[in-house]
Amino acid sequence: MTTTRNLLAEQSARFARLDPVIPAQRVAPVGEPVVAALPDGRVVGGVVAFHHHPPGTVSSLWSARYCRELTPLLGSVGAEGLAELLAAARPVLVDGLAAEPDSAVEVIWPSRDAEATRVLLDHGFVPLSVLAIRTTAAPSRPAPVDDRVRVRRGGPSDLTEVLDLAMAELEYSALVGGTVLRPDARDLKAETLRTRLAGDHPVWLAEVDGLVIGLAEGAWSPVAEGSPGSTRLPTGLLGYVNCVSVASGARGLGVGQLLMARAHEEFDTAGARATYLYYNPPNPLSSVFWPRQGYRPLWTIWESRPATGLRHGP
Ligand SMILES: CC(C)(COP(=O)(O)OP(=O)(O)OC[C@H]1O[C@@H](n2cnc3c(N)ncnc32)[C@H](O)[C@@H]1OP(=O)(O)O)[C@@H](O)C(=O)NCCC(=O)NCCS
Repeated sequence: MTTTRNLLAEQSARFARLDPVIPAQRVAPVGEPVVAALPDGRVVGGVVAFHHHPPGTVSSLWSARYCRELTPLLGSVGAEGLAELLAAARPVLVDGLAAEPDSAVEVIWPSRDAEATRVLLDHGFVPLSVLAIRTTAAPSRPAPVDDRVRVRRGGPSDLTEVLDLAMAELEYSALVGGTVLRPDARDLKAETLRTRLAGDHPVWLAEVDGLVIGLAEGAWSPVAEGSPGSTRLPTGLLGYVNCVSVASGARGLGVGQLLMARAHEEFDTAGARATYLYYNPPNPLSSVFWPRQGYRPLWTIWESRPATGLRHGP
């Protein structure tokens, strides 16, 4: 008999073969269950979680308002079962969203599963973001940057400059990824950054003659065994890089690289096992920049926006 536990264990073993950095899958996803049978009788499953990101929530800045997240449990069947699962899950995934343009269906899946990539593309999904990881303390090459550029930690008095740079990143990312420029974006960002700048998480600023031209917003991210985060990332102390933004007139001059050299130095010195971040593959700047800084895709966040963009496969 096929059980969720079996599917999870077999899926975990398959993920490990695809990518040794993907952690063991020990936490069963929570949501509405879906089951599908292949013509040869094999059975796959999945669960659908419903997420709402109303006005006033920070997550609404990178999410559609109404999201249905499908977590497939394909066991050892793998991508072969994904098309059947998508067909079986479709009524749940699009139910009630036919007239909702601000909606999405999401699947978060190991980036290296090329066979699943084919199925997801064929069903109208777009790889809007990747969760990328840097696992080795690759030495940062010295940045060929103007030697007047200084990097320092930011604090509460830097809010105005930090907010402008964060908004510039948000506006750029809204052109090339899943970010949504909501009417309350500036207020939401201001509130988050005010807290961030007054707290213990690091914010690095690059400046020239006292003028702030670059921002890297970091965070300490301890991932505990058995926590939801442990299904995606290695456990232990990790460094998280949230927003990196260089003023448009100063891009391509090594400022971003200098900021990340400092961030990595601090994360590595503190014993972070890895550092991770999200970026948008369609972003022509960050998709070049991050691999140069030692990051590679681990999980891809596939989305069909709006939800009704979900297609029947070939
Ligand atoms: C992404 C960003 C932070 C990079 O900062 P930057 O100061 O421009 O980057 P650097 O000059 O340090 O460049 C570092 C590397 O990225 C690559 N790169 C940067 N800008 C590039 C460009 N316009 N075209 C091609 N490659 C580029 C270079 O290959 C460079 O590596 P190299 O010097 O070893 O060749 C900056 O471009 C930016 O703010 N972009 C808009 C907001 C954004 O996309 N933020 C990231 C969201 S995840």
